[in-house]
Order: sequence, then C-alpha cells, then structure tokens
Amino acid sequence: MASAYKIAVFPGDGIGKEIVSQAVRVLQVISNKYNIRVETQEALVGGSAIDAFGIPLPEDSLHLAMVSDAVLLGAVGGPKWEGLDYSIRPERALLGLREKLGLFANLRPARLFSALADASTLKRSVIEGIDIMVIRELTGGIYFGRPRGIEKIDGQERGINTEVYTTSEIERIARLAFQMAGGRQKRLCSVDKANVLESSELWRRVVNTVHKEYEDVTLSHMYVDNCSMQLIRDPRQFDVILTNNMFGDILSDEAAMLTGSIGMLPSASIGGDVGMYEPIHGSAPDIAGQDKANPIATILSVGMMFKYSFGLDIACEEIESAVNRVLDNGYRTRDIYSPGNKLVGTRKMTDIILNELA
Ligand code: IPM
Ligand code: MG
Repeated sequence: MASAYKIAVFPGDGIGKEIVSQAVRVLQVISNKYNIRVETQEALVGGSAIDAFGIPLPEDSLHLAMVSDAVLLGAVGGPKWEGLDYSIRPERALLGLREKLGLFANLRPARLFSALADASTLKRSVIEGIDIMVIRELTGGIYFGRPRGIEKIDGQERGINTEVYTTSEIERIARLAFQMAGGRQKRLCSVDKANVLESSELWRRVVNTVHKEYEDVTLSHMYVDNCSMQLIRDPRQFDVILTNNMFGDILSDEAAMLTGSIGMLPSASIGGDVGMYEPIHGSAPDIAGQDKANPIATILSVGMMFKYSFGLDIACEEIESAVNRVLDNGYRTRDIYSPGNKLVGTRKMTDIILNELA
C-alpha cells in the first residue's frame, strides 16, 4: 500500500474548530473505506495563531502545509482581530498560504441541492438545476499587484492597488478552465472588464489564444457587471465561469447565494503541489462553540480533496450523494432550517451523514 497522505488541518477561528473536527471524521471513514492511509496534523492559523504567536501564519504552520499532500482549512477571522494592521490580520494567513503554495486556481462550485430550492431568495423556476463552477484566479491581480499601499501626498493620503496580469498567469488559469469545462458541459464564459481595463483586454486576448487548443469547448466573454446581472436573471446559462481574483471573489459569493445557503458550498484551491480545501463561508463567531454550525460545506470540501488531490472522484461523488440523501430525508442545521424539517446540530448532522456513508 502507498505511504500515507499527510493532511495539514487548520481549524482556524470561530466555528472553524467544530466544522473541521467533524469533517475529519468523514475524512477518516472515507479513507478507511478506500484503503487510503491518511495522517492528519493540526496547526494554528488566523486569529488563533495571532493570539498564540502574534502572527496569522506562523512559520511552523506554513512549513506543515508545504510538506503535506493537502490542507483542510476551516475559517479565519473575527471581530476580535478587526482593528489590527492589514499585514497581521487573520485573512493574511489565507493570502499567504495561497501565495506560498502557488494555488493559482480557486474552484467554487455552486450547485443546487434540490431539497433546498426553497431556501433561495430566487424563484425555484429560475434556480432549479443550476450547476456552475466558478474558477477564480487566486494568486495574481489586484490582491497581489504592486505598487500598493497608502502614501502621504500634497497634505492628504493616497491609497493604491494595482490590477496586473501577465500572459503566463492568464494562460495557466485559462488552460485549467478549458480542461474543466471539457469535462462538464463544455461551455466556458470568461468574465472581465475589457471595455475599460487594459489588464482585462490582455486577459481576453490570451483566453482567445488558449481557446485554439480546446476547440471542443464553446467560449464566450462577458463583462463583469453584466455577469452579476445574468447570474440572478438566468443562472442556468452558465457552466464554467473563468475570472480574475477580484471579480471571482465577488461573483463566487453571488453564485453561492443562488443556492440558498453559503453554509453548503465547498472550495478547492489548486495549481501547486499541495491543494487546499475549505468551505467558502466565514468563521461565524456569533454561533461558535454552540454546535449550531453547518458542517456540510467542510465535509464537501473533504470530497473535493479526494477528487482533486488524490484522484478519487468516486469518493467525492459518494460524499455528495450522502449529503443529498440526508437533505432529502429532512435533516437541517439551523442556517437551512424551515418548518416541517428536523433541526440538528453540527455533530448530529455529521453522524447522520456518516450513517449514510456506511
Ligand atoms: C474569500 C475571502 C478572502 C478573499 C478574504 C477572507 C481574504 O473573501 O476567500 O473569498 O477575499 O479572497
Ligand atoms: Mg470572498
């Protein structure tokens, strides 16, 4: 048998601890089932690392991530650390991990669990059957561009950030997006602001060039303002959306909300040697430690880990269908509860999912 996969486990802050410990139970059950050995090791990132060491991404945590095969992360941040300087806020842990692990591609699937169609703020007839993959460039653009900072000039201050992309940065994310679309409905929509921004003009040109390598995929382009409108007008028109770091941050939240609960959606950040998997929701400090959080997004993130880091697509599908059945059977955490369903806590929800997996 192959040697064990090493998994760095970063619970982070707030509900992160509860949801990650539950998702690790699923990780263990599925790896036993498929005869995969996994070794997990925990470390601090985010606010909990700030409290312990004064910085959000301690050297030891980063090192652990780099020598692991995959990272499972809960969530970082909370009001406690909000006043800190940008350079040591909890969020820096995420940005640092993305950068240091070379995770240039962020996959954020927005799929509707049909049992939850009525939890969406949009009509069932608009959202039924949506299955969108948002692919967000994750290590470039305005998040990392230089110059950046706040400077004093002419008796006032000036805040600066730079939106910048090179040909090779666009090529690699475009290739990944075309490949992903090729395995789905073969429709790729690249989203930019090419009517105003030069970085988008280049983005569009390079995506068109890369398209020549993937002619089985239908490519379209859309301006980001139009895309945000189209997502709520007719979300089913989208299969794969490819976009830059900033637009992807915004559009992936919008796409997520179509499905009714942000507590349901997983994510994968890939592109380097070590993939990172995390729910797309935040640390929800208001309900932390109360066994109220929805563990499903983190459990589905474990599914994505099996698929994208260990090449075990079937394990991912199995987790997804177990979650589907549990929802069909009426079990709900508080965030997705509606009258007539069965309200359960974080641990109980995981028990029921594990039951389905058995
Ligand atoms: C996300 C988050 C992060 C981002 C923050 C917490 C730095 O909003 O993963 O979407 O902006 O990338
Ligand atoms: Mg975001």
